[in-house]
Amino acid sequence: MLNIDLTGKRALVAGVADDAGFGFAIAKSLAEAGAAVSVGTWPPALNIFMNLLERGKMDESRRLSDGSLLEFEKIYPLDAVFDTYDAMPEDLRASKRYKDTGDFSIDGVARRIESDFGRNSLDIVIHSLANGPEVKKPLLETSRPGYLAAIGVSAYSLVSMVSRLAPLMRPGGSFLSLTYMASERVIPGYGGGMSSAKAALESDTRVLAFEAGRKYGVRINAISAGPLASRAASAIGIIEKMVEYCAENSPLTEPLRAEEVGQVAAFLSSPLATGITGTVVYVDKGFHAMGMALQDAPPQD
Ligand SMILES: NC(=O)c1ccc[n+]([C@@H]2O[C@H](COP(=O)([O-])OP(=O)(O)OC[C@H]3O[C@@H](n4cnc5c(N)ncnc54)[C@H](O)[C@@H]3O)[C@@H](O)[C@H]2O)c1
Repeated sequence: MLNIDLTGKRALVAGVADDAGFGFAIAKSLAEAGAAVSVGTWPPALNIFMNLLERGKMDESRRLSDGSLLEFEKIYPLDAVFDTYDAMPEDLRASKRYKDTGDFSIDGVARRIESDFGRNSLDIVIHSLANGPEVKKPLLETSRPGYLAAIGVSAYSLVSMVSRLAPLMRPGGSFLSLTYMASERVIPGYGGGMSSAKAALESDTRVLAFEAGRKYGVRINAISAGPLASRAASAIGIIEKMVEYCAENSPLTEPLRAEEVGQVAAFLSSPLATGITGTVVYVDKGFHAMGMALQDAPPQD
């Protein structure tokens, strides 16, 4: 049988702070396939996440098909706004939610992985994080700092992660990020430069695939996912409407489940996908293929 087998592989999923988003579903699928999974968690969300884990609030969603619970090898504090320790402002380092986390920059996580597991220790990196402080504002009303912040945390962070983590990867390593169709079609309400950030992320996926492919032999892909009512997406304010609209107008009318993205992520990260790099794969129930909205409910039988 053709199986997704990630036994002996080590993964880092950056952007997990609860069990509702794509990062968690991807971590779970990678673990189902046999990988050891660590996560990178945004310091302001870290305490709540640890509490949820320790108090067993996520046990049901952590349950794997063999009955065991999904365990994280390591939970690294990560703020993807910062590339190095020196780039982190002193007052932020000293603030309540950050002061006990050590070096939470992208470089800090890379160094911790190296000291925990050594070089040649990593096989899979998932970039499942985004933030746009002005996401509720139309692009036309977005400030320069808001726009640059969206691009910095949601797109440049991938460049930074590839440059710092690719040297730690074993041959055949794979990077994967999560993008959204707002990069190429207008989604009213997805503002603040987030559409621009996703366009940058997709373009960078191609360029990084070439550069890091040649330099390190790694692959870089992205999944363009349909809407899901995750915590981050709920901040947009119109996510329920987007989910409903997509279900009504897609070729497949069941709302997208996070596991469906998790399974494709496991495939793209696996040795079955060694021929795929520089690609954006839609996992959206086919919504991207449509050119016209339906006036009435789709035919049911
Ligand atoms: N939910 C959707 O409808 C949808 C659709 C397509 C693509 N995506 C993308 O999927 C990815 C995951 O988002 P999600 O919707 O699953 O939500 P999520 O809330 O599960 O994940 C977003 C994560 O990013 C983290 N984060 C925010 N700022 C950070 C920072 N500065 N440093 C480190 N981490 C930070 C958050 O703490 C959170 O854990 C994002 O790239 C998102 O744009 C989401």
